[in-house]
Amino acid sequence: MKVLVIGGGAREHAICDIVKKSKNIELYSVMSNINPGIESLSKEYLFEKEIEVDKIVEYAINKNIEIVLIGPEAPLESGLTNELILNGVLVCAPKKEAARIETDKEWMRNILKKYEIPGQLKFKCFTDINKAEIFIEDLNGEVVIKPIGLTGGKGVRVSGDHFYNTVEAIEYIGEIIKKKIGGKSKVLIEEKAKGEEFTLQAFSDGVSIIPLPLVQDHKRLFPGDKGPNTGGMGSYSLSNGLLPFISKSIYEESAAILQKIIESLNREKCKFIGPIYGQFMLTSEGPKIIEVNARFGDPEAMNVLPLLSSDYIDLCKAMLNENLCKKQIIIDNKSTVCKYIVPEGYGVKSMIDEKITLDEENIKNSGSKLYYASVNKKNNNIYTTSSRSLAIVGISDLLVDAEIMCENALRYVKGKHIYIRHDIGTSKLIQSKMNKIKN
Ligand code: AMP
Ligand code: GLY
Repeated sequence: MKVLVIGGGAREHAICDIVKKSKNIELYSVMSNINPGIESLSKEYLFEKEIEVDKIVEYAINKNIEIVLIGPEAPLESGLTNELILNGVLVCAPKKEAARIETDKEWMRNILKKYEIPGQLKFKCFTDINKAEIFIEDLNGEVVIKPIGLTGGKGVRVSGDHFYNTVEAIEYIGEIIKKKIGGKSKVLIEEKAKGEEFTLQAFSDGVSIIPLPLVQDHKRLFPGDKGPNTGGMGSYSLSNGLLPFISKSIYEESAAILQKIIESLNREKCKFIGPIYGQFMLTSEGPKIIEVNARFGDPEAMNVLPLLSSDYIDLCKAMLNENLCKKQIIIDNKSTVCKYIVPEGYGVKSMIDEKITLDEENIKNSGSKLYYASVNKKNNNIYTTSSRSLAIVGISDLLVDAEIMCENALRYVKGKHIYIRHDIGTSKLIQSKMNKIKN
């Protein structure tokens, strides 16, 4: 079968890896950087921006592609799924109308409200700074400011973390409105949820879902969850599919929320097919919805996909044929720790074109997985781009062993200008999160 994977990051490397485990696969890819991992798994690749819809459709037709998988959000927003389907190509990803659940935060909040989905937060959207100021005061300044559209996970600012008073809030709101950050002269202001965050990913066939093990990502750049938000610095998961601070009943409550979102999208005539991602905050009132993504998370995909023993292409077919309820998936009961290697300055001003050297053989021998991300391969060397460079995933029965395995492999990655959050997955960091919850 001819499969085309869109995207050149570590999440897409993990997707390509699992696709290649199915029988008789001819893998093709589209990427805007040369990801050496994807390159070596692919029969051929198109070096192109992932949002160049017409060129990708033409490529898919020329190569007689039978099924397309899309990693990042930007091509979903550009309607790549819609155009491929119009040209008779199967796509296991949502159409742009359903992907609005991620690409239009105002629409997402309105869907939750319309269908009375549990886990909502107070919110309002504004084009007028003065009206926004009144709402911020109504919420005692405990707010989060968000651009409406996509910003690569870097447009959100949280009170007490990124701004400290109404004056600073108003300044950022003015900037969003004036510069149309996130695509619109509009801003979303929502209640700040307090607690621990977690990610629940699931497969969806538009009617039912299969929820996957929980993952906790670390969006902040610095140890101890400090500093600016990034695309995610690393993540961990536990062998029982839960997290140290999440019970089975909270897991089920969160899965029921995702299921309700899928049902409401169906009722809106935007059937959601493909992987879906719920970002939640466990608050004293239960799980609250922080965001919904129309794809796998990055890094969260790297915690879950390597554990999946089921045939992935069969799963994609079940999503496309509304057959998920008849499917059982097999997940290895292992813990995982994923740490990203990023260029120095990432999240603020990345040092680009810096060489990274790594010993693939020793990383493999350590038992860890290596996923290349936004690096460029030139003359057999690997160089940083402005985005994350590569991810190492340790996998073992116990979290503590997965973390040690990951650190052992990281010793084989070298670069003068790279940065890693070494605290991810450590008992110390997890204990400090648990203490925060208790207080
Ligand atoms: P997002 O891009 O929506 O995932 O937001 C980035 C990060 O900002 C999240 O991972 C949270 O840490 C934080 N955040 C977003 N919305 C809220 C909220 N309503 N309350 C508290 N923190 C939030
Ligand atoms: N890990 C955050 C995201 O994929 O959006």
